[in-house]
Amino acid sequence: MDFLKITGPTKLSGEVKISGAKNAALPLIAMTLLAKNEVEISNMCEVVDIKTLLKLLENLGATTHLENNKVTINTLDLTETKATYDIVKTMRASILVLGPLLARFGHCEVSLPGGCAIGQRPIDLHLKALEQMGAKITIKSGYVLAEAPNGLQGAHIIFDKITVTGTANIVMAAALAHGKTTIINAAREPEVVQLCEVLRASGIPIEGIGTSEITVYGSDQKLIEIKPFSVIPDRIEAGTYLCAAAITRSELTITNVRDDHLEAVIAKLEEMGLKMKIEDTQITIYPCETIKPANIITQEYPAFPTDMQAQFLALATQADGVSTIEERLFENRFMHVSELQRLGADIHLNGNVAIVAGNSKLHGADVMATDLRASSTLVLAGMIAEGETQIHRIYHLDRGYEKLQEKLVKLGANILREKE
Ligand code: EPZ
Repeated sequence: MDFLKITGPTKLSGEVKISGAKNAALPLIAMTLLAKNEVEISNMCEVVDIKTLLKLLENLGATTHLENNKVTINTLDLTETKATYDIVKTMRASILVLGPLLARFGHCEVSLPGGCAIGQRPIDLHLKALEQMGAKITIKSGYVLAEAPNGLQGAHIIFDKITVTGTANIVMAAALAHGKTTIINAAREPEVVQLCEVLRASGIPIEGIGTSEITVYGSDQKLIEIKPFSVIPDRIEAGTYLCAAAITRSELTITNVRDDHLEAVIAKLEEMGLKMKIEDTQITIYPCETIKPANIITQEYPAFPTDMQAQFLALATQADGVSTIEERLFENRFMHVSELQRLGADIHLNGNVAIVAGNSKLHGADVMATDLRASSTLVLAGMIAEGETQIHRIYHLDRGYEKLQEKLVKLGANILREKE
């Protein structure tokens, strides 16, 4: 297993190009199950989660080719409709194949994802919505068995909670269903917006894109022609580099970004005293002497993202005063707190609220990555800690950040990747 060795404190400088969004690419790859042609997708980040989903499709009989951030996927000759435990257990987003497989074949089996480090993360809302569309769902031996022999029927679906992959799954199912599906309380994340836009460009009429009420007119099980397209930039990777600049008090330019996807993050950084210049697809962030404390609440888009909570927690340890960070999406997403405490951070947890005393002097130590975003927060903290920080279990990082270590080293960080 690899680990990272960071020697701090570090200053960064220069320019970094943001990769394609992992969480946009995952549903877009699953969407190729609806295509009647080979699909070409560019600006594809080459991270482990993407390779896992491509492997899952290959196990079903698809052919895929990923090279130079471009992937081609052909799902025309699928031979299997079963997504097996060995692959699903390694990545929860595998559940994204449930809607399209069922809509296309009228039956499928998808393993239940199992445990997760950040919370329970059930899939009940996905299943309930598919049942409303006429599917018969049974859970047997750890698998979701779904059947709709005559295809799915359009339905009026009200999600009890806003769910990102739940919305994506049902939009894809609805694209091939008979008739009209309305989704109330739909997710508005840019990743869901791109999925809807690509489907619309492929001939599926969709109304309300980017709002909490989406209407999809199904194709009566006719496969669609998907033209080549490019994945949107990763807003969470961009936010992570903005935090890297802020915490190391460096000037950094991030390129290939969509600032309109980062409004809540930019607003919070500004509130904390950071100055930024936004030009077209790039943002330059400037060093600031005194970082102000902040109160942050994670919520669904367009509010502050849970996927940036951990990085802002690290930043808050350097603020001049006490910050509070409330996690509203996932019940167990503070595993990084005890690791940050090992580096000397002064953080108290009160239920789902972290109270962060600022002005902490951090010192290098051995720490353990617990999930993807928790891993990046340890890298941020490691870059300002005095001395050597070793971050173990960095396979979490590899799942979702493309070349994080290489990109930071190019910016001047002292980070080595070594074997345990
Ligand atoms: C997506 O997860 C992202 N993953 C997550 O990013 C992100 O943290 C999350 O959305 C919230 O923004 C992908 O896009 C692949 P949800 P998802 O369904 O879709 C509850 C990262 O680091 N819920 O929107 O699985 C759920 O437990 C990852 O890149 C149900 O109760 O999240 C949670 O409390 C981590 N029943 C809330 O809804 C359901 O059936 C939101 O979850 C589904 C969800």
